[in-house]
Amino acid sequence: MRLQGKTAIVTGGAGGIGRAITRVFVREGANVLFVDIDDERGTALEKELGAATRFLNVDIARRESADQIRDAAVDAFGSVDVLVNNAHASRQALLVDHTQDMFDLSFQTGFYPVVHLMQACYPQLKSAKGSVINFASGSGLDGMPTQTSYAAAKEAIRGVSRVAA
Ligand SMILES: NC(=O)c1ccc[n+]([C@@H]2O[C@H](COP(=O)([O-])OP(=O)(O)OC[C@H]3O[C@@H](n4cnc5c(N)ncnc54)[C@H](O)[C@@H]3O)[C@@H](O)[C@H]2O)c1
Repeated sequence: MRLQGKTAIVTGGAGGIGRAITRVFVREGANVLFVDIDDERGTALEKELGAATRFLNVDIARRESADQIRDAAVDAFGSVDVLVNNAHASRQALLVDHTQDMFDLSFQTGFYPVVHLMQACYPQLKSAKGSVINFASGSGLDGMPTQTSYAAAKEAIRGVSRVAA
């Protein structure tokens, strides 16, 4: 059990890759505070995994959610050892068709929560000598034609992750 006694925050932890991360982290002994806007899947996963998990239905696009998420993890489990910035919503469209709303969605769910959660959890991560796991994507490198705002936010995440490191 490689994560025994550790507490992790996982954004987007009720669905997709985040759901698998939540499951595997619990299997490895971690307590997991997972965040999602999918209430049905989040509630079911919390019930399934039991006392090692807390589900928080919060939209990470809201600026104030970062402190709320950090506080919920500390209240439930006493620390933050691992921050997994996994959630990211985006729409696909060619650059010429991309709207401001599409850019806002990608940066407000992808880039800004990564920054705000690293800032909010810094005291806990520093004292725990913890870890941050941020998600970039090959699409940021490849220049896929319809992944305009997604690629842009993913490369911004990659940049700020290097700065944090
Ligand atoms: N799936 C892939 O092939 C792939 C490839 C490269 C990178 N990634 C990255 O991996 C991560 C996970 O990808 P995925 O395919 O599992 O995504 P997904 O869309 O299947 O799941 C994302 C989860 O985040 C939640 N979510 C969305 N918006 C939210 C918000 N505002 N607040 C809180 N939760 C929110 C969703 O409800 C969902 O449960 C993302 O960062 C994605 O960009 C995925």
